[in-house]
Amino acid sequence: MKVTVVGAGAVGASCAEYIAIKNFASEVVLLDIKEGYAEGKAMDLMQTASLNGFDTKITGSTSDYSKTANSDICVITSGIPRKPGMTREELIGINAGIVKSVSSDLIKHSPDTIIIVVSNPMDTMTYLVHKTTDLPKNRIIGMGGALDSARFKYRLAEALGAPISDVDGMVIGGHSDKGMVPLTRLATRNSVPVTEFISDERLDQVREDTKVGGATLTKLLGTSAWYAPGAAVSGLVQAIACDQKKIFPCSTMLEGEYGLNDLCIGVPVVLGRNGIEKIVEIELNDAEAAHMKESAEGVSKTNGLLEL
Ligand SMILES: NC(=O)c1ccc[n+]([C@@H]2O[C@H](COP(=O)([O-])OP(=O)(O)OC[C@H]3O[C@@H](n4cnc5c(N)ncnc54)[C@H](O)[C@@H]3O)[C@@H](O)[C@H]2O)c1
Repeated sequence: MKVTVVGAGAVGASCAEYIAIKNFASEVVLLDIKEGYAEGKAMDLMQTASLNGFDTKITGSTSDYSKTANSDICVITSGIPRKPGMTREELIGINAGIVKSVSSDLIKHSPDTIIIVVSNPMDTMTYLVHKTTDLPKNRIIGMGGALDSARFKYRLAEALGAPISDVDGMVIGGHSDKGMVPLTRLATRNSVPVTEFISDERLDQVREDTKVGGATLTKLLGTSAWYAPGAAVSGLVQAIACDQKKIFPCSTMLEGEYGLNDLCIGVPVVLGRNGIEKIVEIELNDAEAAHMKESAEGVSKTNGLLEL
C-alpha cells in the first residue's frame, strides 16, 4: 500500500506521521514545492520509526511526481491555511490553482489512485477535482466531516462530563463555520441519546462550539490546526487501505441524494478499498434538512467562484 501526501506542512506531515504510526502502509511519499522540505520532514519522521515501532518507509520529494508513481491513495494538503479572522472560503483564489495542478500531476503518475482532498475550501476543492479530472466519483473524497465529528465528540464529552470513548456523533454538511450540521438528535452516550443527559441550551452551545472549532484553534495558534486534521485523514486512509467499510461523513459528489445535485458536501459514506462504496442516506428532520439545504447553497455559491 503506497500513499502519497502532497504538502509536507503542518497537516501533511501530521497525516504522514499518523499513517506511519498505525503501520498499515508499506510506503508514504511526502511531496512539497519547497526545496528540501519534504525530504527533511520524511527523514525526521523516519528517525522516529525505531522509537515508535513502525516499518512504513517515508520518503520525501521536492516536486518530483515520478516518486509518487503507482500510489494507491493520494492526499492533497498543499495550499495556504487560514490566518485568524479568515474564512476557509477566502483561500479559494490561491488554493484552486494549486489543487488543480497537483491533482493532474498525481493522476498522470497514478491513474488508478484514490484522491483525498484536504485543502480548503475543501468542499469546493473536491468539486474542482471532479470537474477537472476523469476520476470516477468513488475515487474523489473530501475530508472535513471526519474532523468536524471528532471536534463534535470532544465538545459533547465535555458537556456530558463523559469520556470521549463513550460518545458518538456525526457532523454532516459543508466544511465551513456556517455550513456544518452537527446531528445532536442522533448523538449518543453509550447508545443512550445525549438529549437524555443535557439540556437543549447546552446542546445548542455544543453545536455552536463545534461549528467554530477550527476558527477557535486558528485564533489560539495563529494558523489552522494540524493534529486532529492529520489524524482524521489517517482514519480515512486506513479505512480505504484496510477495506474496513467504515462510515465517515465525507464530501462527495451528490446526484440526487439528500435532494442535492452537482455539488460536493459532507454526507455519511461507507469507505473501503474502492473509496466511497456507498452514500448512506439518513432521514433528516425538518430543521436538519433546512440547515443542510442552506449549507448546500453556501457551498454552491463558493463553487460559483471557480473558473472552470
Ligand atoms: N479539510 C480540513 O478539515 C482541513 C483541516 C486543516 C487544514 N486544512 C487545509 O489544509 C491546507 C494545508 O494546511 P497546513 O496547515 O498544512 O498548511 P501549511 O502551510 O503548513 O502547509 C502547506 C504546504 O503546502 C505546500 N505547497 C504549496 N503549494 C504547493 C504545490 N503547488 N505543490 C506542493 N506543495 C505545495 C507548502 O510549501 C506547505 O509546505 C490548508 O488549505 C488548510 O486550510 C483543511
